[in-house]
Amino acid sequence: MTAKIALVTGANKGIGFETAGQLAAAGMTVLIGARDEGRGRAAEQALRDGGADAHFVQLDVTDAKSVQRAAERIEAEYGRLDVLVNNAGTASVARLRGLPSQTSLADMRAVYEINVFGIVTVTNAMPPLLRRAEAARIVNVSSEVGSITSQTDPASPLSQMPASAQYPSSKAAVNMLTAMYAKELKDTPIKVNAANPGYTDTDFNDHRGFRSAAEGAEPSVYLATLPAGGPSGILWGHIWKADGSGGYGQLGW
Ligand SMILES: NC(=O)c1ccc[n+]([C@@H]2O[C@H](COP(=O)([O-])OP(=O)(O)OC[C@H]3O[C@@H](n4cnc5c(N)ncnc54)[C@H](OP(=O)(O)O)[C@@H]3O)[C@@H](O)[C@H]2O)c1
Repeated sequence: MTAKIALVTGANKGIGFETAGQLAAAGMTVLIGARDEGRGRAAEQALRDGGADAHFVQLDVTDAKSVQRAAERIEAEYGRLDVLVNNAGTASVARLRGLPSQTSLADMRAVYEINVFGIVTVTNAMPPLLRRAEAARIVNVSSEVGSITSQTDPASPLSQMPASAQYPSSKAAVNMLTAMYAKELKDTPIKVNAANPGYTDTDFNDHRGFRSAAEGAEPSVYLATLPAGGPSGILWGHIWKADGSGGYGQLGW
């Protein structure tokens, strides 16, 4: 059987790097989407050193031309794409604590360019490749922070966190995009789901997260390897409870 082909955006570090490693360990050929060639090649080498069939693909999710070039290369070399993990993201950490009333539109647009428009750019460049796979899986890396249900539930630890506009609303948009792509593709074998990594120790939050990057990758890998009978159009991953009794499961939008 030929190996499945998986593209992970923002795979040069953090959760994306770990996701690529775990998909490779599951037998897939992994395409390491990275905007910077040096960082992408270093990640490719590190994964290969660990035994992975890993290949760097230059891809900046905010640059439609680079996304198109990546799609053309995948077309020429593999002819299909079995798994797309839209992982690249930014929190603009330095500005994260800005209250909604103090949010600048420039900051907000910068976050949306990557987290929201980036997903649309990449996903919309891939349909012919995804349709040629036997049963493609699209995973949008979201966050419980984008769950309106969690943010407004007094029992959720998230309801105690300071209000901010850019990042949570960008992930709420990712959740809706997930539901809408799943709706569009409901009569095909393609499944589209959103992953919640949980609060994960990466550069993203200056390593304040309480989950390892390998754990943060687990929801993406679970959704990328769903069997035919699995769900489409859900938010799934780490469930954060104040008493620590969380685990994995489906989250409310
Ligand atoms: N860490 C958490 O607690 C947490 C929780 C929930 C959800 N998430 C989500 O998980 C995903 C990965 O985050 P992480 O924690 O692994 O963060 P990270 O370590 O900062 O990694 C982010 C990745 O995204 C890439 N990226 C940023 N802008 C890009 C662009 N324009 N084009 C292509 N790649 C770009 C980065 O590349 P460079 O190295 O070139 O910057 C990097 O590879 C994000 O979508 C994030 O929102 C994280």
